[in-house]
Amino acid sequence: MEILQTVHSYLAYAVLAVLFIAVGNAIIGLVSNKIFTMEKDLRISLFALIMSHIQLVIGLVLYFVSTSGFKAIQLVGMETITSNPAARLLALEHPLINIIAVVLITIGWSRHKKFLEGNKKFRSIAIFYGLGLLLILSRIPWGQWFN
Ligand code: HEM
Repeated sequence: MEILQTVHSYLAYAVLAVLFIAVGNAIIGLVSNKIFTMEKDLRISLFALIMSHIQLVIGLVLYFVSTSGFKAIQLVGMETITSNPAARLLALEHPLINIIAVVLITIGWSRHKKFLEGNKKFRSIAIFYGLGLLLILSRIPWGQWFN
């Protein structure tokens, strides 16, 4: 399904953008000792959470319909995939690392709700969303994305 790949490809810009904004906002909130507000800080963090979950679901479906995902492993075998960096990235590393990234983002969200103090909320978002963002950035198929 071509359309899924197109959606996943364009949504990636939005996901990365809102994650950058959420992490930046949390770091600023933390270092300048701001109050964590429902109107701004909660909304930005929630929006980033929702966008990354939508991308996760689309990615999971894409993994099973795309010829670069699970089908590639079935077709040529695990050994061939693991010995080819480009194929390994699409069929194994990108999916696995991004699932872990979204889990971290979700943990950051859940933890922030448990705290009453603004700086603890900001710290939870900054650390867990930040780690998630770094993981995602480490396994983007850059060459393919910009082609
Ligand atoms: C959550 C953050 C994620 C981001 C930002 C992201 C981003 C991207 C980008 C930029 C591409 C290249 C698109 C292109 O070729 O134009 C891609 C491809 C792909 N992604 Fe993701 N992705 C994410 C999560 C996932 C997850 C969780 C899975 C699977 C479990 C997944 C499965 C795939 C697959 C299979 C492809 C290759 C599609 C193909 O070439 O046919 N992605 N992703």
